Order: sequence, then structure tokens, then C-alpha cells
Amino acid sequence: MTSPKVIWFTGLSGAGKSTLAEYLSQALMKQNYKVSLLDGDQLRQKDNNLGFSDEDRTKHIERVIELAKAQHDQNYFVIVALISPFEATRKLAKETIGGESFIEIYVNTPLEVCEERDTKGLYKKARSGLIKDMTGIDSNYEVPDHPDITIDTSKQIIEECVLKILKFIN
Ligand code: ADX
Repeated sequence: MTSPKVIWFTGLSGAGKSTLAEYLSQALMKQNYKVSLLDGDQLRQKDNNLGFSDEDRTKHIERVIELAKAQHDQNYFVIVALISPFEATRKLAKETIGGESFIEIYVNTPLEVCEERDTKGLYKKARSGLIKDMTGIDSNYEVPDHPDITIDTSKQIIEECVLKILKFIN
């Protein structure tokens, strides 16, 4: 068994991060790891005083980095699913956790596909100006420089994607 890691999913809203994170967490629990899943949507429901300006995202992500570190120190396999659109905060995450324990997964599902899925109706709202600062529309997403794994959920089924991740981890 490998030592617990922090698996960090980054990508647009609707790219498939939460679904992948959920499947992966189930697979790791079956292998008897202690698993913690930190999902942006869920965390923001509990802690909704932060919005989607660049500053607020940075604060929110910095909090998640601290939480992930604390849980990883307690021997948890920590799975993080956040848009985390900025290279600087992702770099901070890697530095804080330690490069040998940190795996960055870029969920590279194209914007057109995410927008077509529009599971929460947010892209439609952003296109019509009802909400602002939507990632990929009027808020920037910086493509990761050197992700450990890249996944496009429009090209592979979830089970295949999860197998690819499990192979990398073990
Ligand atoms: S992050 O940029 O700060 O990392 P996070 O992953 O926590 O984002 O939250 C993203 C989720 O918030 C999206 O999946 C979506 O459901 C919701 N959301 C609401 N407004 C926005 C917006 N303006 N931009 C992106 N996501 C939004």
C-alpha cells in the first residue's frame, strides 16, 4: 500500500471533478485508507461568506490547503475538488503539502462540453449576465503547467479515468 497522498483535482465547473473525486474516494476506502473528500461546492455551502472574485477564491483555496494539510498529517488520503483556477495557489498547495505527497490532476474537459452539460445552469446565467466572475466566461482559468495526470471526461468514461488515477497512485 502506498502512503496517503493529497489528490488535487483542478478544472472548470462541470468538468467532472466532483464525480471523479467521489469515485476515487470510494475506491480508496475499499482499500482501507482513511479518506477525506474536500469538495468546493460542499465547502462553500457550509462556509458561504466568500464569493468568486479572485481574492475570495484565493482565500477560500488557502483555507482548503490548510485543512488538507492537517488531514494529511493525520494520515488521511485527502481528495480535493476545487476549480482552483490560479497557478500560484496550486503551487502553494504543492509546497504546503510537500511535492512527494501531492498529485495534481487536471480535469481538462473542454469548456464547450462543460457549458453543454451546464448541470447547475450557471453557464447560461453567466452568458446572459445574471451572474459574474464565472470561470471560463468572465473569470480566468490558468491551465496547469505540469499536472501529474490529465483527464478529459468527455473522451473516457469515469471508471477508466479512475483506473488511470489508481494506477498512477500505486
Ligand atoms: S474555486 O475557484 O474557489 O476553486 P470552487 O471549486 O470552490 O471554486 O467552487 C466552484 C463551484 O461553485 C462551481 O462548481 C459552481 O457550482 C459554483 N459557482 C457559483 N458561482 C460560480 C462562479 N462565478 N464561478 C465558478 N463557479 C461558481
